Amino acid sequence: MHRIMNDISPQSLHEWDRTHYWHSFTQMAEYEPLVIERADGVWLFDTKGRKLLDGASSMWCNVHGHNHPKINAAISEQLGKVAHATSLGMSCDTTIQFAKRLVDITPDGLEHVFFSSDGSSAIEVALKAAFQYWTQCDTPQPAKTKFLAFGQAYHGDTLGAASVGGIAEFRGLFAPLLLDVLQAPQPNGRTNDAAFYLEAVEKILQQQSKQIAAMVIEPLVQGAAGMVMQPAGFVKGLRELADRYDVLLILDEVATGFGRTGALFACQREQVLPDFLCLGKGITGGYLPMSATLTTPRIWKAFLGDAASGRALYHGHTYSGNPLAAAAGLASLNLFEEEKTIANLAPKIERLGERLAELAESPHVAHPRQCGMIVAVDLVANQQTGEPFSKEARVGRRVAHAALERGVWLRARNDMTYALPPLSITLTEIDILMDAMTVGVESLQR
Ligand SMILES: Cc1ncc(COP(=O)(O)O)c(C=O)c1O
Repeated sequence: MHRIMNDISPQSLHEWDRTHYWHSFTQMAEYEPLVIERADGVWLFDTKGRKLLDGASSMWCNVHGHNHPKINAAISEQLGKVAHATSLGMSCDTTIQFAKRLVDITPDGLEHVFFSSDGSSAIEVALKAAFQYWTQCDTPQPAKTKFLAFGQAYHGDTLGAASVGGIAEFRGLFAPLLLDVLQAPQPNGRTNDAAFYLEAVEKILQQQSKQIAAMVIEPLVQGAAGMVMQPAGFVKGLRELADRYDVLLILDEVATGFGRTGALFACQREQVLPDFLCLGKGITGGYLPMSATLTTPRIWKAFLGDAASGRALYHGHTYSGNPLAAAAGLASLNLFEEEKTIANLAPKIERLGERLAELAESPHVAHPRQCGMIVAVDLVANQQTGEPFSKEARVGRRVAHAALERGVWLRARNDMTYALPPLSITLTEIDILMDAMTVGVESLQR
């Protein structure tokens, strides 16, 4: 018999979950409770006694698996010292060490770390700091008040981050509240022609760079857009354009950071040094909320002065730089070294690729794609014509449901599905994951 804390029955929990817990991005009128009690490695255990493979890494943040003894121990040890120390005029030894480690592992030239608690806030910090930089750098350009963003980007849900996002469902209603942002077309992953898209960006910069503070992009893969992948050289080209037109470059690696693309950071694959690097999700291995905005001495120096100068960055959050999260982050980085996480990805990436190629044979699959430990396919009614399924067919729900029946938690939309497992997944577990994804997609034939 499955019982949980305080002897609350699963039925009561499910009822309270539907009634009192307002879930993110969820139509609560249709929500079917899926309540996780514990987890281990890539496996989640729910209140119905089911064991489910975490095929989306708990929304793209879990790295080394759940319940890892070394991350657990690091958090416990820190808890015995201090759970929180503010970052406002105060510090904590663990958080300082974590800042230093982040500087060590990110591209040379990123030397300063501003901590927040979620990915959206890491973006807000970069946007505000980029704007402020142009008001107080050596040659101020206060007309630079706009940002350039890309197609269906997703950078988070706070109003600044949502302003640079392009997914209609997320931003449409809120449009009157958002910043004035310029949109460049995004590479759609169907052509390797980076030059074509860079030309479009350059045209915008030629006309409006004097008003643009920064460009912001998810490098290599636009996640929420539908795992849309960019041609090689695109991010590198953006760096060159940013330099040529005197615009800052913000790279949002909230989703791609910490090994997801097969390198520790996506910008390393393009050998690009951004002006701001935004990190979140996997920064603590997926254990505690934390994010970071890293920047260069050029930006940092523009913020220095005496207290009366007004040059400080007036932004911060109560839990910025939380030591428990920093301890988890340090433990996660230690695991990257001890377990050779990145080096060990090669066979896993290969196996995911092989299984993706098999899945691509399925009649409702189009545009199979992979970047490191992410595989995705579009779901189409007709593979030949690319005709989409109708909204009413609710194919995303059907795919996810069929995968769940096979013991795998997958995210699927009406137009696509993907797998993005913890990096610690084994080859056998990859087969379980991809078997379920295949069964999910094949269920659409019935
Ligand atoms: C690329 C990217 N940036 C920013 C965010 C926002 O992060 P958070 O949900 O932690 O605010 C996300 C979340 O999915 C993301 O994928």
